[in-house]
Amino acid sequence: TRAGLPDTFGRIATDLRVSVTDRCNLRCAYCMPAEGLDWLPRPELLDNDELVRVIGIFTRLGIRTIRLTGGEPLLRRGLPGLVRRISELPHAPRIAMTTNGIGLDRLAGPLAEAGLERINISLDTVEPERFKELTRRDRFADVERGIKAAQDAGLAPVKINAVAMHDASGRDNPADLLRWCLHRGLQLRFIEQMPLDAGHTWARDRMFTAAELRTVLEEHFTLTALPDETRGSAPAELFLVDGGPETVGVIASVTAPFCAACDRVRLTADGQVRNCLFARDENDLRGPLRAGASDEELADVIRANLLRKHRGHGIGEPTFQQPDRPMSSIGG
Ligand code: GTP
Ligand code: 5AD
Ligand code: SF4
Repeated sequence: TRAGLPDTFGRIATDLRVSVTDRCNLRCAYCMPAEGLDWLPRPELLDNDELVRVIGIFTRLGIRTIRLTGGEPLLRRGLPGLVRRISELPHAPRIAMTTNGIGLDRLAGPLAEAGLERINISLDTVEPERFKELTRRDRFADVERGIKAAQDAGLAPVKINAVAMHDASGRDNPADLLRWCLHRGLQLRFIEQMPLDAGHTWARDRMFTAAELRTVLEEHFTLTALPDETRGSAPAELFLVDGGPETVGVIASVTAPFCAACDRVRLTADGQVRNCLFARDENDLRGPLRAGASDEELADVIRANLLRKHRGHGIGEPTFQQPDRPMSSIGG
């Protein structure tokens, strides 16, 4: 039974992304409105015992990697303790995290110590003023410190996620961000913006595409695509920069979807299984869990959810509808 979670399109989920909170301390314009969102009341979140139990069921069903996300996962209190408990589960899943980096100066060491292996940090610009505009918070220096702390704690390779955006002011070239990352030994990956913003303002024709990004970067660097065989189910296509060994990644979720190779399933902070970022429906684990369901009953809910996974996200198709939940509450 540890074969993973199959769907009806021949894919097998082996990667669970767990949102541990829907709160965030930034307000990235492509994700959240300036005033924030209505946070889930605390009793609606799974507590640590519940999370560890549910994650244990997923690992028995064949999930091999756990990625903690948010909101901003570092806002959840006692995170190193949770990581430790997950790392001690039977079948010892590998544990990674996606974070905005604020607070890592304090937490990177304890998290690494507790069993966190890898970390991806979101950073869209290295211009402090533009950072403040984009995130509506003046916290570039905190992120910079967090990145350094993650590297010092041995969480290598630290990856940087940047949502590709037009900068009308022309102040902030993607090449500057790449140079900044190369200089610090960070692996940068640019991401195409997806229709997951709380304000539903995304429009395909305003998107900065992977192809445009390559054109801009190639004015400054020579990029050589790595062979596709090396990619597996990874969302990023990698390019050697100026002959390598350093690479830059491009996650072209919209113009070149990787849904056919998707190995992911998600658990929302309020205990819903969700088979895709763009799923139209979820299955509740929290209700049955709190009503005394057995592990086998919960496993049935999980398996059934995966069997309802769609072939792809369908962005651009006439029937496409943006999910009700914004990115921050699904967990990137
Ligand atoms: P690695 O194991 O380091 O490759 O992690 P990852 O890239 O899967 O995780 P991360 O959280 O860093 O995700 C990077 C970006 O990929 C996210 O910000 C999303 O934009 C995108 N992404 C992650 N999961 C999915 C998914 O299931 N579908 C789509 N379309 N995009 C995803
Ligand atoms: N499209 C693509 N990526 C997004 N992220 C947040 N919102 C979007 C979006 N609409 C990214 C963040 C972070 C991860 C959690 O998700 O930049 O890297
Ligand atoms: Fe917070 Fe991440 Fe959304 Fe930015 S993208 S507001 S860091 S949850």
